[in-house]
Amino acid sequence: MTAGDFTTLASMYTLFSRVGGIAVLCAAFRQHIRTSVEEIVKDVNNDDDMVQKLLDLKSAADTTITTAFLTNNMNDAETSAGTKTPDSEFVYSLKDAFASGFRARRNKPAEMIAKFLDKAMRKGQGSSTDAEFQALLDSVLALYRYTDDKDVFRTFYHRSLAKRLLLEKSASIDFEASMLKKLKEVLGAEYDPEFGMGEDMFKDLSLSKEAMAEYHAKLPSNSFGQRLSVMVLQRSAWPFTVTKKSVDLPISMQKELVNYANDYKLRHSGHVLSWDHALGTATLKARFDAGYKDLSVSLYQAVVLLLFNDAVEIPFTDIMAQTRMDDDELRRTLQSLACGKKKVLLKIPPGKDVNDGDVFKFNADFKDERLRVHINSIQAKVTPEESKRTNETIEGDRKHYIDAAIVRIMKAKKEMMHEQLMIATIDAVKSHFVPIVDTIKKRVESLVESEYLRRSEKDKEKFFYVA
Ligand SMILES: *[C@@H]1O[C@H](CO)[C@@H](O)[C@H](O)[C@H]1NC(C)=O
Repeated sequence: MTAGDFTTLASMYTLFSRVGGIAVLCAAFRQHIRTSVEEIVKDVNNDDDMVQKLLDLKSAADTTITTAFLTNNMNDAETSAGTKTPDSEFVYSLKDAFASGFRARRNKPAEMIAKFLDKAMRKGQGSSTDAEFQALLDSVLALYRYTDDKDVFRTFYHRSLAKRLLLEKSASIDFEASMLKKLKEVLGAEYDPEFGMGEDMFKDLSLSKEAMAEYHAKLPSNSFGQRLSVMVLQRSAWPFTVTKKSVDLPISMQKELVNYANDYKLRHSGHVLSWDHALGTATLKARFDAGYKDLSVSLYQAVVLLLFNDAVEIPFTDIMAQTRMDDDELRRTLQSLACGKKKVLLKIPPGKDVNDGDVFKFNADFKDERLRVHINSIQAKVTPEESKRTNETIEGDRKHYIDAAIVRIMKAKKEMMHEQLMIATIDAVKSHFVPIVDTIKKRVESLVESEYLRRSEKDKEKFFYVA
């Protein structure tokens, strides 16, 4: 199989079938696939290649079955003698081998599958045809089906989709919509039905666009507000937590937001607007010695750069005091402006890390061939911190999910033995993830402590529901 020698594999299949040895061959096939999947997912130093390797393996295994492991189609009297179809035992074994191979490492494969799709959706189909690109997406979805950790996939997918849409990084909105449809439809009965999330996101974006056009139409054509673009998002549809400490915007910008908010209130009296600038973007016209450039930056980068309208050099601590940005966020922002490829600011002294004693200076000598210069920020990328936060969110959600399942089960049954409760709980949450027995035990303990459940005094294994 490793050599892709389908002719020999086909001969093997024929020979094994003559001596009633198909079960042996099938077991060896299954073992080979399973071991290969395990090796790939457990290779922690090459997580970034995991999905591509799995796709290659799956495709080779599919080809093996469809070219070498063919059986005479005896059930179908209509087809002429000699029609052959892939042996269903092997088809089944392939699925099983992938699913059990994935279990060698929890959570990470599901995360990597979502990240692989994120890359694919950003990059788009390139020179491949629609059908080829759809086939790639389908094959990635096939991998998703094998993981137990559907919630991990969904959470990462949801977040990256949100970023693609808000930062306009998606190669094709049509493909986004068709992907969501697939996730929902294919997953409808058998899998996760919660992919309806995308619909609310798309709706928010198109309503925002309309509302923005109406707002602009009301303003004088030369007013500053014409350059404002606001997306109004329902909290429940988007996977972002409220950022508590954000940034102080320049007064002129802040004024536009107040104008917008006042107008919004007139149209939607019951709604509360709160601003989230973390994914905001801006275009600045910057004058360097070599000429004007349009800088396409994140809103955080813009706020920092605008300070240099009033001063050529500013110490780190002053930038901090004037913007009131989160410490880490400010350091990362300054790094992107002064330590990356496009240095529109200079750091004194030079270096990779931003220290408290640093001073920043406008780089008047900045040059670039293009008129429009995009300065990378970490905004669009998934940072390790963000992955960590996502991990914590998922772990927290799992606890709530297990708690809710246990309470639901106990409420219905009133009393139950520990073992049965375990089994019922695993069954109740399995379409989202497969919980670790130890975690369920801990959740049961905590529910006893918070008096949702009571442990029997006579039998430590028995639990009662506390109404
Ligand atoms: C979260 O991170 C821990 C530690 O790295 C890991 O064991 C766990 O599987 C992760 N959970 C999820 C849901 O990714």
